[in-house]
Formats: sequence, C-alpha cells, structure tokens
Amino acid sequence: MLDKVRDLQQQIEQYTITSPEQLEQFRMRFISRKGVITELFEQLKLVPPTDRRAVGQELNALKNAAQTRFEQFSQLVDEQQTVAGNAPPLDLTLPTLPNLTGTQHPLSLVRQRIIQIFERIGFNVADGPEIESDWYNFGALNFPDNHPARDMQDTFFIEKAADGGTDMLLRTHTSNVQIRLMERQSPPIRSIMPGRVYRNETISARAHCLFHQVEGIYIDRNVGFKDLKDTLYHFVKELFEPGTQIRFRPSYFPFTEPSAEIDISCQICGGKGCNICKYSGWVEIAGSGMVDPQVIANCGIDPEEYTGFAFGMGIERITQLKYVVNDLRLYTENDVRFLRQFEGL
Ligand code: DAH
Repeated sequence: MLDKVRDLQQQIEQYTITSPEQLEQFRMRFISRKGVITELFEQLKLVPPTDRRAVGQELNALKNAAQTRFEQFSQLVDEQQTVAGNAPPLDLTLPTLPNLTGTQHPLSLVRQRIIQIFERIGFNVADGPEIESDWYNFGALNFPDNHPARDMQDTFFIEKAADGGTDMLLRTHTSNVQIRLMERQSPPIRSIMPGRVYRNETISARAHCLFHQVEGIYIDRNVGFKDLKDTLYHFVKELFEPGTQIRFRPSYFPFTEPSAEIDISCQICGGKGCNICKYSGWVEIAGSGMVDPQVIANCGIDPEEYTGFAFGMGIERITQLKYVVNDLRLYTENDVRFLRQFEGL
C-alpha cells in the first residue's frame, strides 16, 4: 500500500500538462471520486490496524499534493487561454484610460500661427540676438542720443562702455533684427522676426519684464502704405474671428514715417465696450509704418531706390485677445491648470 502511495506521489510530481484536456485527465485520475486516491482511501480498511494511522497520514499528504498540483495546473491553463485570446470576450464599451498628452504653451501656439500666416504670403523667419548694442536697438533706428523717445521703453542696460562707446543692453523690441537683416541682405527683404524682448517694468497683471514680439519687414522697389494695409488686413482676417474690424490710427515711432498703430474691434465684447477695451470697442495689436528713409540708409541701402514697411506686435497681447488671458503672469507661472486648457489646440 505504502509503495503504491509513494509511486503515485512521484507520478504527481512529475506530471506535466499543456492543454485543458490534460488538466481534465489529471482531475479524473487523481482528484475525482472515481480516481485512484479515493480508491486507496477505500482500501485503507484492509490495512492492519497498527499501520493504518501511518498509511492514512501518507494518503492524506498525497491527496493534498494532488489538490495543490491541480490548482497550479488550472492557473497555468487559465493564463494560456488569456494569452491565446480565448479569455472571456472583451468589453469594448469600457471607458479607456485617459490619454495624457502634453500641451503647447499658448504663446508657442500663437507664435506658430502668426508665422504660418506670414509664411504663406512669402515672409521667411529671421532671428537676432537678445543681448544687443545700443546701435542696433536704438541708434540705427533713429533714436538720437538722449532723445526722450528712448524713455518709451525702459531699458535693462548691461554695461556702459567707459569710453562712451557701445552700451550693451537687453533688446527692448525685436526691431534690432530689421537693422541686422537690412545690413546683411540686399532687397527684396520680406521677413518676420519672432523673439523675446525685455523691459524694466515691475511685474504685475498688466506688465512683465520679459515678453515676446513678432516684427515684420518688407523692403523692395515700390512698396507703399497700401501694401502695409493689405498685409495686415490679411493677417487680422486669418488670425481673428470672422467679422473682426481693423483700423489704422496715426502714431509716432522714430524709425517709421508715417507711422500707425493698428487696432481691431475688441474680441472680448465684439466692439460693444468692456473693461479689456476700456469701453472704446477697440484694442491695439501692433505698431507699424513706412520704414524711415534714414533707417534704410543707416543700413547701407539706397532709400531713393527702395522703400518698405515694418510692423511689430506683442505675442502676449494677441494671445490675451484670442484666449481671454487677463493676467500676464499666467504665461510664466507654469500652472498646469492654466496650460491644460490649451490641450489639443
Ligand atoms: N518696436 C515697436 C515697439 O516695441 C513696435 C513697432 C512699431 C515695430 C512700428 C515696428 C514698427 O517695426 O514699424 O513698441
């Protein structure tokens, strides 16, 4: 009897299965009521009483071993079925896990959009330094030394040259790139220049010491004010809501003559009047004008032969109007609750 038990024990240990059918065979042979182990339990009464206790213990151990093995095999078969796709049918109505994608910063979105609009009408993208000399930021753009126009922009000066020569500063506008382009290239020049600019302002909801502009310039023969208007009308029509009104308002910049500021009908109230447009119905989006002949000459281009227009706008300002962002500080705080609102745009 004991030999039989030991023999079965060995069989169980060495048993392997690879299919549900073999699992069933195992169950029939070792676990079921008609199996070999039940049979041995029935024969227990034939064992001499002195041995019965020891044999009974062996038999119980055998029964447990068979049960454990059966559970292992069942699990194995289950796993194989899942892998093979024979598992219970998939519930296709279950909601999926959220697909977390990153978002583009709203300023990047708007910059890209502005670039796209101008690229499609033949402007290319140019770049220039943020640390600049006085000449490129002011001098070449017709800001005379000590002229009060320099006070229009609160400048971060980096160093003052001991000999009274070149001052270095953080550029206060992207107009420095106009000068660098005209110096380097001969007309036709048709470029836009997005970039960071700096002004010595106290940070608040309405002012920041760092912001972004996009400058544009077009220099060629026979470029007139109508080309400036056409180009900016097109831009406004592409970027803003249909029906947006545009107007040119006479203004002053040292580097353009004549100069104009460009207003559009307020995107927030549709022109009816609100606190964003200070109840005027209009908001300013850009400065512009015909490049002053002296500026063209400063760059070594003949202003008798070539004329051109330029414009400059703030990306934060445009973004504020497009997405109703009323606190400039949101752009730099990286609050994900703010940024997530631009997901998928
Ligand atoms: N540089 C001006 C500013 O920062 C914006 C500007 C106005 C740029 C007129 C231009 C322009 O090119 O023609 O306020």
